[in-house]
Amino acid sequence: MGAGVCMEQLVELVGFSTKVKYYSQIKEIGFPERSVLVSDQNVYPLIAPLLDSFEGKVIVLAAGEKEKNWESVTTVLDAAFELGLGRDDHMVGIGGGVVTDLTAFAASLYMRGCRLILYPTSLLAMVDAAFGGKTGMNYGGYKNMVGSFYPAHELHIISEFLQSLPNREYKGGMAEVVKHGFLSSGELLDFLEENLEAIQNKDPHILDSLLYEALSVKIAVVSEDLRESGVRAHLNLGHTFGHALEAISQFGLVSHGEAVAWGIVQAMKLGVHLGYTNKTYAQRVTKLLENFGFDLEIDNLAIDQIIMAMKKDKKQKAGQVRFVLQKSQGQTFTQAVDDKDLFHILSNRFHDFY
Ligand SMILES: NC(=O)c1ccc[n+]([C@@H]2O[C@H](COP(=O)([O-])OP(=O)(O)OC[C@H]3O[C@@H](n4cnc5c(N)ncnc54)[C@H](O)[C@@H]3O)[C@@H](O)[C@H]2O)c1
Repeated sequence: MGAGVCMEQLVELVGFSTKVKYYSQIKEIGFPERSVLVSDQNVYPLIAPLLDSFEGKVIVLAAGEKEKNWESVTTVLDAAFELGLGRDDHMVGIGGGVVTDLTAFAASLYMRGCRLILYPTSLLAMVDAAFGGKTGMNYGGYKNMVGSFYPAHELHIISEFLQSLPNREYKGGMAEVVKHGFLSSGELLDFLEENLEAIQNKDPHILDSLLYEALSVKIAVVSEDLRESGVRAHLNLGHTFGHALEAISQFGLVSHGEAVAWGIVQAMKLGVHLGYTNKTYAQRVTKLLENFGFDLEIDNLAIDQIIMAMKKDKKQKAGQVRFVLQKSQGQTFTQAVDDKDLFHILSNRFHDFY
């Protein structure tokens, strides 16, 4: 796929269908007239030139996770009431995962669900947050504690947005892209290895294909398991370790992407240690993450605290933490693990295992 190419696919999720459109340039956007458009202060300047004749309401949030709160949701709902929107009118979220999660949550509440269009503008939101129906906001000091399942009616993936995305955010999203490469038995992993430099340089010719391939993995997983009763849990590869690292380093110090990349390597070490994971594959995974510039070894890790934080993770079942492990590319399963094995792999470096 080259720059300027427009692709379209229709994805059916139990009772919902999402039209996914891919194109290269921001100027191709056309917003519905009667709509509430939600964005943030970093993204708004990118779309402002397209809004000259827009007659709906525009809400520009401050950037960042702290805006994912009830006050922002009511601001969006109030705007919809003031405009007199009906169920067939639209809410449009255009921004990173904070904006897409929040707009989708508000859309799911308004008149028990109005039309929802999402334009994810960060890499993380394009390949992960904006597809799959999970909406929400933070509550009571916890992330994503309140929310709903409400897939977008339309999802627009526009690669040009990535050009202005700060490098830290781009790299963070890349951890999820690479994770999709490991989860899929398709060609994404080869594509990432072969086009590493062009991807790092945000080559527009590569980005369209990259986004299509990476999002297709999430689409395939979610289409099979919307409510996370089975394979959708595989998307948490590296996340149990990663969330624990984020939690003990007080959210914000280690980026989510850095934590996930580190977590994926811990899952590889654990799988090799327990005799499940092919060593050559674990090396391949680690090398690719290293090549993308992720820090995979952390000195002076507070291992007891990490293990304790993992036990608090909301994904534990019957008091036992289940880890997403892999035998090899595309061969993923979940497994409960003893503390002594966790302690062992966290106290040793990947070179000690493979
Ligand atoms: N619903 C889901 O399934 C799901 C999955 C993963 C993550 N999430 C949620 O996504 C959120 C994280 O998303 P995020 O990483 O996109 O964070 P974010 O929305 O805070 O965006 C990151 C930063 O990049 C800026 N930005 C976004 N696009 C830009 C662009 N094109 N140019 C310049 N700056 C741009 C934003 O203003 C912000 O400062 C979290 O709240 C997380 O809970 C949801």
